[in-house]
Amino acid sequence: MNPFKFGTIVDGDFFTDRTDETTLLTQKLDSENHLVLISPRRFGKSSLVQRVLSHSSRPQILLDLQYVMSVSDFAAQMLKALFRLYPMERLRHAMTHFRISPTLSMDAVTGALEVNFQPTANATVLLEDAMALLDKVTSATDRFIVVIDEFQEVMKIGKGFDRQLRSLMQRQKNLNYILLGSQESMMEAIFENKKSPFYHFGQIIRLGKIPYDDFLAYIRNRMPNDVPSVPEEILEISSCHPYYTQQLASQVWEMVTYRHLTDGVVQQAVDALVRMHDLDYERLWQTLNRTDRYTLRQLSQMQQPLRDRSQATSTTYSSLLRLMKLGYVVKTDHYEIEDPFFLRWLRLNSN
Ligand SMILES: Nc1ncnc2c1ncn2[C@@H]1O[C@H](COP(=O)(O)OP(=O)(O)OP(=O)(O)O)[C@@H](O)[C@H]1O
Ligand SMILES: [Mg+2]
Repeated sequence: MNPFKFGTIVDGDFFTDRTDETTLLTQKLDSENHLVLISPRRFGKSSLVQRVLSHSSRPQILLDLQYVMSVSDFAAQMLKALFRLYPMERLRHAMTHFRISPTLSMDAVTGALEVNFQPTANATVLLEDAMALLDKVTSATDRFIVVIDEFQEVMKIGKGFDRQLRSLMQRQKNLNYILLGSQESMMEAIFENKKSPFYHFGQIIRLGKIPYDDFLAYIRNRMPNDVPSVPEEILEISSCHPYYTQQLASQVWEMVTYRHLTDGVVQQAVDALVRMHDLDYERLWQTLNRTDRYTLRQLSQMQQPLRDRSQATSTTYSSLLRLMKLGYVVKTDHYEIEDPFFLRWLRLNSN
């Protein structure tokens, strides 16, 4: 079986490093503090949190704001998560404060539970009741961990939702929140801007790439012995980005194992991945305006766009901000294209 995995949460044999982060998260969960975990996309936030949670016997709730459509949907999803953890009998007693009763239905085949409210129900009331229920069931001896993924979406769910949520969370005791987000600029605006309701809500932890030596050992242990220089070549291209490293390693492993390629196999794997994504990259390219295309092209040729004088610095700067928000560009000590295969596609197509 292919020993490399990408795209979904990784655990067990597919998971490497993150020992310091695991310790830090575990320790923080032993306190009354909340945590905020920020990184660019696909750096391994969900995998890390999942790993920490799998070693904890505390009750856990996971919500992904990407899939929350409205304030009442947030309340419904919170209730659904609670119903999954506790028998109905126990919760019914804790729900006497509810001003609007939800309707529960169960799919007889899958056993999946649905929570519904009357469409006209006041969303604020639903939210307050659901959060109060969470507050009732969590206790000093059975402290909940509530993970909210893609937290930057909080701004899109409803007007004033962030403020409402913050004031309800503030009153809760005996639980920890872990809030995850990948759009760094938005997460920073939510947690580091003094005017934001979530200012100083919890300790911010920034997740970086996986350290070179560790990733090298990880790849070396899983690659056949007849391609000794391959692990270094992979990391040279992926720059230790967790997702792209696993993706490239997986492709190389297949080519070595099934097609017995050795010489130049990393380059061939890169070419294959660029070809595989050709249509996606082309579609993406078509969505961009001319300024953003120009900025990307410059970055693909290893030039820093802000040094370029052929267009106004403010124009270039707003283009970079836009591209970073979309996740195509990341800033380390300089600006770079996030996806190493898109970078190569750009070079191939820059006539
Ligand atoms: N600790 C790790 N060891 C090895 N590979 C990892 C690790 N963490 C992440 N990866 C790789 O990165 C991929 C993305 O991980 P994950 O989904 O946890 O990231 P994320 O930051 O939650 O992503 P998203 O921004 O899409 O929510 C995984 O499928 C895996 O290939
Ligand atoms: Mg994730």
